[in-house]
Amino acid sequence: MNITNHLYYLGINDRKKHLFENNWPLPFGVSYNSYLIADEHTALIDTLEYGAYPNYLGRIEEILKGRDLEYLIINHMEPDHAGMTGEICRRYPNIRIIANNKAFKMIENYFGFTHNLMEAKDGDLLDLGRHKLQFVMTPWLHWPETMMTYDTADHLLFSCDAFGSFGCLDGGIFDDELDFDYYYQDEMLRYYANIVGKYSGMVQKALAKLAGVPLRYICPSHGPIWRTQPTKALGLYDKWSKHQAMEGVVIAFASMYGHTEQTADYIARKIAEQGIKHIRVYDVSKTHVSYILRDVWKYKGLVLGSCAYNGDMHPMMRQLCHELEMAAPKCKVYGLFGGYSWNGGGLKKLQTFASAMDWEEAALSADILGAPDAEKLAPCNILAQAIAAKIKE
Ligand code: FEO
Repeated sequence: MNITNHLYYLGINDRKKHLFENNWPLPFGVSYNSYLIADEHTALIDTLEYGAYPNYLGRIEEILKGRDLEYLIINHMEPDHAGMTGEICRRYPNIRIIANNKAFKMIENYFGFTHNLMEAKDGDLLDLGRHKLQFVMTPWLHWPETMMTYDTADHLLFSCDAFGSFGCLDGGIFDDELDFDYYYQDEMLRYYANIVGKYSGMVQKALAKLAGVPLRYICPSHGPIWRTQPTKALGLYDKWSKHQAMEGVVIAFASMYGHTEQTADYIARKIAEQGIKHIRVYDVSKTHVSYILRDVWKYKGLVLGSCAYNGDMHPMMRQLCHELEMAAPKCKVYGLFGGYSWNGGGLKKLQTFASAMDWEEAALSADILGAPDAEKLAPCNILAQAIAAKIKE
């Protein structure tokens, strides 16, 4: 698959894996994208997860037609991209690995290689002939050693995880060849929220570095290649990393026997009566936390509710709170509620969690003893009105 002159796409779809990083569900699979430049000199830009593409080496040989592979550029050491480094280096023993000094220790620890390493520093150039590559250090997107590679000839950015997406490339590999709205946009945000979002400050630094750089293509290491709308990818990352969310509310609840769920549904209805259309209600025991976190990133309002469980919040709500602490989405307007049968604890622990999140509380919380009724639910009316008013501001 030719992208531009001498530049080949060597990606593969993984439809077998259930969990990315053994953690994040992959309902639409995932692609690993690797790129080969066969110019006057030859360079491979990132590899694949080990074993994902049985004929990967054969495909490289086919393109190179007997030529040697001179450079392997490692933008990121996570094994879904660097996993084939050992195989590549054994097949091409003279190859020089180009990476930054933070990656060198990882290369040694993963593969035992300490030789044939060429350090890439910010702004360094590699002349391959027509293609002249420039290295851009973008640390913490999302590991300390991450960098990008910019092709000054074709104005093309190899961005690794940044601007990438979960989801296989079902035929179309370019943004104009596929239905981005079908699932890629949501899966791109789910990737961002769960994997990159914690480092949103570093995303802003990377975007500032890329400002003014001509970009005809963005070639990420997962998901579609941006050749028609690279500015759309930049704009989405800018919006997400600035924590700009849209009008809407996520209501996530943990309920053992249904009382807390009834409260969640009641609040959802009351928010809808205030004219809010984007309301997403999630049972944390059923929906994987990655989908909830994606929508927390998407919408401005957040309501969390938990039944008491051993004097604490429910374990599945605890997991969501842990992920929220890790990813640290900002600028949320929130409300809380609880349910209990004797002395509570769920709401109290939610309050402790939320008070440390630097979010804005819309209204005081409701803690409901036993089955909810109109009287017990009255504080929820105030919560619903307050959160709807604040997210409309
Ligand atoms: Fe796609 Fe950070 O690996």
